[in-house]
Amino acid sequence: MKFSTIFTFACTATFAISQAVPGTGVTKKDLGDEVIKALEKALQAGTCGACNTTLAALKVVSLLGDRAFVDALSSACVVLGLFRGGEDVCAGAIRLEGPTLAHDLREMKVPSHTSQLFCAHFLGLCGYPDVVPYTVSFPSPKPAPAGRPAPSGQEPIQIVQYSDIHIDPFYVTGSNTDCGKPVCCRVYEDSDAPGSTSSPAGPFGDYACDVPVSLEESMHTAISEIAPNAAFTTFTGDIVDHAVWNTTQAQNTIDINDAYAKMSARRLVYGTIGNHEASPTNAFPPTSVGDDSDWVYNLLSGIWSRWIGVTAASAEQDFGAYSTKYERGNLRVVSLNTNFYYALNFWMYRRNFETDPSGQLAWLVRELQAAEDVNERVYIIDHTPPGRDDTFRDISNYFDQIMNRYSGTIATLFFGHTYKGHFEIAYSDYSARSYSNALAVSYIMPSLTPTDGHPSFRIYSVDPVTFAILDSTTYIADVTNPGYQTTSPVWTKYYSAKEAYSPLISETFANDTSAELAPAFWHNVTAALQSNPDAFSAYYARKTRGWEVPACDDVCKVSKICQLQANAGAR
Ligand SMILES: *[C@@H]1O[C@H](CO)[C@@H](O)[C@H](O)[C@H]1NC(C)=O
Ligand SMILES: *[C@@H]1O[C@H](CO)[C@@H](O)[C@H](O)[C@H]1NC(C)=O
Ligand SMILES: *[C@@H]1O[C@H](CO)[C@@H](O)[C@H](O)[C@H]1NC(C)=O
Ligand SMILES: *[C@@H]1O[C@H](CO)[C@@H](O)[C@H](O)[C@H]1NC(C)=O
Repeated sequence: MKFSTIFTFACTATFAISQAVPGTGVTKKDLGDEVIKALEKALQAGTCGACNTTLAALKVVSLLGDRAFVDALSSACVVLGLFRGGEDVCAGAIRLEGPTLAHDLREMKVPSHTSQLFCAHFLGLCGYPDVVPYTVSFPSPKPAPAGRPAPSGQEPIQIVQYSDIHIDPFYVTGSNTDCGKPVCCRVYEDSDAPGSTSSPAGPFGDYACDVPVSLEESMHTAISEIAPNAAFTTFTGDIVDHAVWNTTQAQNTIDINDAYAKMSARRLVYGTIGNHEASPTNAFPPTSVGDDSDWVYNLLSGIWSRWIGVTAASAEQDFGAYSTKYERGNLRVVSLNTNFYYALNFWMYRRNFETDPSGQLAWLVRELQAAEDVNERVYIIDHTPPGRDDTFRDISNYFDQIMNRYSGTIATLFFGHTYKGHFEIAYSDYSARSYSNALAVSYIMPSLTPTDGHPSFRIYSVDPVTFAILDSTTYIADVTNPGYQTTSPVWTKYYSAKEAYSPLISETFANDTSAELAPAFWHNVTAALQSNPDAFSAYYARKTRGWEVPACDDVCKVSKICQLQANAGAR
């Protein structure tokens, strides 16, 4: 695209909107119309230059103040159908998220790295900008690789994982499952009420809805029955429901307290903070910007202290992370606030993109160094996995440097957020990925909320000395089971990773109960998925627990396998 054209576009849009200043007789609707025009123009042109122009136009609106910006964007939102569910969803979402967005735009230079990130993530019009090179500094060089610790051969322990529980306290049995909003099974209008709808919700949840308390309780009961002696649980975040256009700190506080109270049946829970725990959703300002999220950090550290002690819980309270020693073994558990790396956290689009928001990566390095110094194994527990489109690639790259440096100490990583069952491998050399340079594996947990597949939880079999993962067994409650709504959800073993995948690799591995599902194992699984179409289809179906499995052609398959092989998006 020619430079002069862009310049003209920018001038036109800017001029039009600057005519629409309050006090000059111009209405909210005019401003909204200008926003619509600017966005439509960009989408029609489908170019990065047009996105730059649109941002320049939105910036002018943002300079009129938060009120004017929110009003203009809300009316544009309805017309452009940015959210399913009409006016109240648009108005609510933009009332909550709009002021941060306006703040971003006022500060943003267009074009710049930040503006291009914004265009890449939200409008899909710009290519992803090159990662800003940043070398994470380490207190000591990487020791010569010693390989994975040898299996202890001792009786394995069990650990539990669940994620993305998204409990809806306003779920109403019998209410409309086909409500036209992002989440149903609530009485938004009289026509959604039980008795008034032809698509009534069952008592235990629905694909169009978040989790009723009955389903949450059913999961906890099943875990207590299936793994009564589990050593501990990793809960990888997201408690609050998807009615993101209507969150309040007061309601989120109630939801978070209630969910953790239900977890008291678990012996020991290592929690982490999900993007839905904040209100507004996703809004986690880094410490350099402000302390708007302190209420949720304080709330969670107060809750977590019962399992990890007051000292660990309050140490990193200003950014929602912690590091704690597991008392019954040589393990350190580090829980990160990955919301600073999440592309929908609008607080991150500031004049200068921060390489280490809240100094969390530097803190992680200090914790890992301290663990390495005393030979502790480490589990890292997070919500949003790096190496995916909704995580900033820059930070994925920096995080990858840390995994690479401390691969001898990190036993494994646990994530949630995607609602799907998958994994990601980190390598020391992404240009020659192989079993011999696979460094770490991240387990990404399918959700309890049924919006993307049957409700799930997982039990890992773990070496009590090395904390190596020996197996990962996923349990589901099949929503299509005839008794699901009439009696109660029936939780059954869905698959064991060792049973499902080791036959693809080695005849003896499956029977070796002390063998680790090491990064090399998972690499070999990806190689088998590449060459064996049936194995790939089976893997792909497991992501959604067999529910509405989308078609995946050869191009799709390559990209899915690439994602498995590219933790931390170092590409
Ligand atoms: C849009 O902005 C990016 C930087 O953010 C710049 O690299 C690119 O050249 C701009 N595109 C056009 C067509 O102006
Ligand atoms: C917003 O949530 C509150 C409960 O916190 C509820 O009473 C109210 O009806 C909801 N409003 C909308 C528009 O959904
Ligand atoms: C693994 O164990 C199963 C039964 O538990 C047995 O049928 C199979 O032959 C064993 N495979 C090998 C290679 O030892
Ligand atoms: C992975 O495959 C390589 C090459 O085929 C093999 O040497 C290695 O033992 C395998 N490792 C595991 C853990 O399966």
